[in-house]
Amino acid sequence: MITFVQPFELELKDMSPRLMVCDGCCCGRLEKGNDVVPIDMLKTAWEEHGLKEHVKLSISGCLGPCSMKNVSLMMDGNDRIWLGELGTSEHYDALVTWAQSIGEKGQMTSLPEELKNHQFKPKSV
Ligand code: FES
Repeated sequence: MITFVQPFELELKDMSPRLMVCDGCCCGRLEKGNDVVPIDMLKTAWEEHGLKEHVKLSISGCLGPCSMKNVSLMMDGNDRIWLGELGTSEHYDALVTWAQSIGEKGQMTSLPEELKNHQFKPKSV
């Protein structure tokens, strides 16, 4: 089951990595010039590959840095990896591949090459 949560609602005891994919007021909104967020594809991939045991997937409301367009956030303990300007199927496939590699290794792995240029540090959230 996919849950909708905000980052501040998460309890620290939930230690498995969590990928939050924003589908808020701006991300995924075509009328605001953003690309569609392929939520169904992500949910299907998580189910097909059994990823929820390793990386929780949450489709979230606004995460804050709307100007970064189509934002996702990987949370692992206190670590935060922010990604923005996602839009192509390659970007979202790379999120799936990343989650698979985390599942295979049993720990956080490095950001896939396709996403390295999309990492950013938010000014404040
Ligand atoms: S709507 Fe996605 S960061 Fe605000």
